Amino acid sequence: MDKAKRTAIIAGNWKMNKTPKEAVALLNEIKPLVADADCEVIACVPYVDLAAAVEATAGTNIKVGAENCHWAESGAFTGEISTGMLKEIGVEYVVLGHSERRQYFGETDETVNKRTKAALAAGLKPIVCVGELLWERECNITEEVIARQIKLDLWDVTEEELKNVVIAYEPVWAIGTGKTATADQAEEVCAFIRAQLAKLYTQEAADGVTIQYGGSMNDKNADELVSKLNVDGGLIGGASLVAEKFAAIVKAASK
Ligand code: PGA
Repeated sequence: MDKAKRTAIIAGNWKMNKTPKEAVALLNEIKPLVADADCEVIACVPYVDLAAAVEATAGTNIKVGAENCHWAESGAFTGEISTGMLKEIGVEYVVLGHSERRQYFGETDETVNKRTKAALAAGLKPIVCVGELLWERECNITEEVIARQIKLDLWDVTEEELKNVVIAYEPVWAIGTGKTATADQAEEVCAFIRAQLAKLYTQEAADGVTIQYGGSMNDKNADELVSKLNVDGGLIGGASLVAEKFAAIVKAASK
């Protein structure tokens, strides 16, 4: 399968930025700029912004995602949000296993896997984030780290369910640091991820999976990154908070 047959996805990961009012203002700026996009466009926003974001993007080509979800349907999990809550207000995607969750909030491959399974069962599309630390890259174990994350995070995910999974390769050393992986480095690991998926599932299934790059992707470097065969779009942090920059990335992925 060639790249043209996979859906390129540009997803903004707003992290802990924007109040509901600010979120609507930013989305209203973004909407006309991406209206003719030839790729999928998603805004992943803080929980309290979700309902306003769904309303503000109704009838447009922008889809809304959350930045995490819990695996239980309900219960004594103070501070958590269930997949049912997200579904009911019209959320379609959910970022899972982001390195900031892993680094600061004790997220493990086991909990990423539980959240991924729950999201899929609820009909949400998970954007599962994987990526190596700088030290792991320096020690030459990037492939081992990624292979382990892919295997564990997708444990027990069926080939049918895999159709609704997006993978984001985000080298931790490139996130919010201004240090982008070179297009060749991104391609190398995204191709490796696809090869791992082919081993765990089938080549056909692996060829259909959208694999994004994330980590200081911006309006300047997007063109080269998304031109790579195995890089099917991006998960964008900082640059997703500036309408013109985000739109320029969407444009790069629409070619
Ligand atoms: P960044 O963040 O684009 O600001 O590096 C990417 C991400 O964390 O998803």
